[in-house]
Amino acid sequence: MAKTFIPWFLGLFFLLANIVPHLADNATLPTIFILGDSTADVGTNSFIPETESEARANFSHNGVDYPNGIPTGRFSNGFNSADHIAKLLGFKRSPPPYLFLLNQTSGHHKLLHRGVNFASGGSGLLDTTGSNLSIVTLSDQIGQFTALRNNLTEVIGQESTETTLSKALFFISVGSNDIFDYFNTRSTVPIEKFIDSLMSAYTTHIEALYNLGARKFGIISVASVGCCPANRLVPKNLRDKDGCFEAMNNVALAFQSALNTLLYNISSQLSEMKYSLGNAYNMTIDVIHNFPDSKFDNVDTACCGTGTLNAEGPCNKTAALCPDRRKYLFWDYFHPTQKAACLAAKTLFYGPPTYVSPINFSQLVNEN
Ligand SMILES: *[C@@H]1O[C@H](CO)[C@@H](O)[C@H](O)[C@H]1NC(C)=O
Ligand SMILES: *[C@@H]1O[C@H](CO)[C@@H](O)[C@H](O)[C@H]1NC(C)=O
Ligand SMILES: *[C@@H]1O[C@H](CO)[C@@H](O)[C@H](O)[C@H]1NC(C)=O
Ligand SMILES: *[C@@H]1O[C@H](CO)[C@@H](O)[C@H](O)[C@H]1NC(C)=O
Ligand SMILES: *[C@@H]1O[C@H](CO)[C@@H](O)[C@H](O)[C@H]1NC(C)=O
Ligand SMILES: *[C@@H]1O[C@H](CO)[C@@H](O)[C@H](O)[C@H]1NC(C)=O
Ligand SMILES: *[C@@H]1O[C@H](CO)[C@@H](O)[C@H](O)[C@H]1NC(C)=O
Ligand SMILES: *[C@@H]1O[C@H](CO)[C@@H](O)[C@H](O)[C@H]1NC(C)=O
Ligand SMILES: *[C@@H]1O[C@H](CO)[C@@H](O)[C@H](O)[C@H]1NC(C)=O
Repeated sequence: MAKTFIPWFLGLFFLLANIVPHLADNATLPTIFILGDSTADVGTNSFIPETESEARANFSHNGVDYPNGIPTGRFSNGFNSADHIAKLLGFKRSPPPYLFLLNQTSGHHKLLHRGVNFASGGSGLLDTTGSNLSIVTLSDQIGQFTALRNNLTEVIGQESTETTLSKALFFISVGSNDIFDYFNTRSTVPIEKFIDSLMSAYTTHIEALYNLGARKFGIISVASVGCCPANRLVPKNLRDKDGCFEAMNNVALAFQSALNTLLYNISSQLSEMKYSLGNAYNMTIDVIHNFPDSKFDNVDTACCGTGTLNAEGPCNKTAALCPDRRKYLFWDYFHPTQKAACLAAKTLFYGPPTYVSPINFSQLVNEN
């Protein structure tokens, strides 16, 4: 018993003890914890053998513009929003997936001091969203964070853990999949009731994270998802003047507005909470409206896919691939290109109140 206990304990000690100096000394690089869906997933689902292939991206042409052109599980030609947020904080890319770190036998500390990415493609605010895809639900992501926090507390103590977590940035990007499911299942729940259920779930998740020590929340709402190439394939009478699925965009707008109110409310109850809400809806719709003056030549077609608008099938090895990814807003039928994700991250950090409020991410990160 003792023989196995000691090496295990020492291993854990070195693992966690090594995080501390990095966290404490490098004041300019806050730890970052990432939660949410495929917009922030950096490979979580590749570590789950049961995950349905529609919720995975660990095959080409994904990753074609990633260093060495390798697919990493990111739903992107290169880096995604989690990577770009991490880059703006001074890191090279997003911290690795929690499931990757769990499986490492050595060198945890080098990776873990940056933070951890829990995001899992296909997940949503509701536990039912993506439940048929064998992904990590947001509730389970918070469960994983709880386990990590408990380990940290065991080694460095309650006080240091609290200090560390209070300075960390918690980046959350979630909600689109709940809205997709609402339409895919032809739900008869009235929209206001549906939005209420999402807000109630969001409240639970934020309170759970706050009670675990999170203080700085960098949250991004749902983009104008009715404009994703896949959702532009609805019958013509359901499309607006931009060619987008109008009813879906209206739900995304209602989500943004309700989330804005929710965060305002909840931050007055959770006295030490600080937050920044990115208005992904306005960010994307403005790029689409400013076309062709925006930075993209194409804002309606997927760069990688099949059929009409390249939006009838996923990006995979046999899909059609556009030659210049920098010209496209959309990488595949649902996800932005690396360039679009980079613009979004910069807007979150330095943008004006139309795109990020009540403060931008750079203010959030620098506040004490
Ligand atoms: C903080 O991180 C930066 C970027 O990785 C590094 O250059 C610097 O040496 C670090 N500072 C300390 C005090 O660890
Ligand atoms: C975990 O690591 C072992 C040993 O390196 C490897 O064989 C296994 O495939 C890994 N599991 C996952 C889920 O990556
Ligand atoms: C992608 O992930 C799945 C699930 O873990 C795994 O079975 C498959 O081998 C992976 N594919 C590649 C190309 O690594
Ligand atoms: C999972 O459920 C969603 C929504 O009900 C559905 O659109 C999707 O096709 C299902 N996927 C699988 C693999 O069963
Ligand atoms: C936390 O500690 C448990 C043992 O108590 C271990 O199984 C687990 O892998 C650890 N998690 C991390 C992220 O280090
Ligand atoms: C926010 O607070 C106001 C006033 O207490 C309340 O009417 C409203 O329902 C709350 N909204 C949310 C989303 O919590
Ligand atoms: C790519 O996706 C298309 C459309 O779903 C499918 O027909 C094709 O078999 C897939 N190719 C590969 C290599 O998985
Ligand atoms: C974003 O926040 C910074 C503070 O870090 C502030 O100087 C700047 O004015 C803000 N940007 C905008 C456009 O409001
Ligand atoms: C979003 O953009 C619209 C149109 O430009 C603007 O009227 C609205 O105030 C913006 N939303 C926010 C929250 O600033």
